[in-house]
Amino acid sequence: MNPADFYRRFELDDSIVRETGFNPYYCSIQSGLSDPVRVDGRDFVDLASNNYLGLAADPRVICAVAGAVERYGASMCGTPIATGCHELYRNLERKLAAFLGLEDAVILPSAYQANNAVFGVVAGKEDVILIDHFAHSSLVQGARAAGCRIRPFLHNDPDHLRSILGKLKDVRQAFVVTESVFSTEGSIAPFRDIIEMCIEYRAIPIIDDSHGIGVIGMRGGGVLDHFDIAGFDGVYTASLGKALANSGGVIAGRKVLIDHLRYYCPHLIYSTAVTPGTLEGVGAVLGIIETEFDRIGARMRENRDRIRHALTSAGFAVIPGDAPINSIEAGNSIRTIRLAKAFFEERILTTPFIHPSVPLDDGRLRLIAGAHLSEQSLRTVLEAIPRIARQYFAAAG
Ligand SMILES: Cc1ncc(COP(=O)(O)O)c(C=O)c1O
Repeated sequence: MNPADFYRRFELDDSIVRETGFNPYYCSIQSGLSDPVRVDGRDFVDLASNNYLGLAADPRVICAVAGAVERYGASMCGTPIATGCHELYRNLERKLAAFLGLEDAVILPSAYQANNAVFGVVAGKEDVILIDHFAHSSLVQGARAAGCRIRPFLHNDPDHLRSILGKLKDVRQAFVVTESVFSTEGSIAPFRDIIEMCIEYRAIPIIDDSHGIGVIGMRGGGVLDHFDIAGFDGVYTASLGKALANSGGVIAGRKVLIDHLRYYCPHLIYSTAVTPGTLEGVGAVLGIIETEFDRIGARMRENRDRIRHALTSAGFAVIPGDAPINSIEAGNSIRTIRLAKAFFEERILTTPFIHPSVPLDDGRLRLIAGAHLSEQSLRTVLEAIPRIARQYFAAAG
């Protein structure tokens, strides 16, 4: 193949951008995640980021990050098995394990990496992975890397899961993989049922709590807190870059497994450790959650309810769910991007999901209203929604 033909394979299909006159992806933000955020020199209300608790630009978190940078510099320039293992690293791992109520935890550079890593270590060719049909790309890619059989089950459908578990034969170990909060939908997995089924069929549950940690549960402890699950005997992963407002990923569970990962997980051992600033930043957020989640969590849920009420009153189909996410069923890719554009023109940032992130013609527009949003920002959103709805439904004919 000559180079021209080689590179032609990568040319982007920009038909949606041409038809809608809008590209919502990679827009360049010029401020921190304060309220409002600055885009292209203009102020916007941020309903797009995963800054659920509004702590990304909280002065206490900034101070913790800046203090660590001043004391220890920008990076430890090493993987966790080498110089990356600053004492802050182990301290935060212990803190996270205690926060989750699990025996031990290990921190990776991202949850994507954590999810890619975990299956290759725990699963082999003789095993089978049962995975929710809507599971995040990182879980799907990770499961594929294990090289074993993969059986998807219908989204949040324990009956379908049971029917698959009941038919398994010649399997060394079955794993059941799901997310806690499905971020495109705002739905929460029936995790108690899933765990009970795992116990019955001796399967190991693997849960990605990226959108649950710091978000759901009485004390913001995530999925295990939400379902009041003690003694969880599976594998837990989560992102430190959403409600925890920094970056990184965690794998937690039994100490024997976590210690094994410390020596045999390539994604951990061969990748530069998260920085001291990040470690202190996550520590500061955990401290705030421990003391203030009642107030901050209530505010986050109130913001969701007010926006949900405005959306449904204006005629939008919002997926029901308990998570602080409003996800609009927006139709095909063109309609979804047009809807994102209508919000953008009202100076509101949202997240459109189109195929292949969601099934074809089943686009979603996701709105997450962080706890830090001002009354003025919320009013901007609430007042804009009926105007956007008129435009959207008129275009639908
Ligand atoms: C469910 C889920 N898992 C994992 C990730 C990856 O998290 P991180 O950004 O820490 O890599 C995401 C982020 O989009 C996510 O939504």
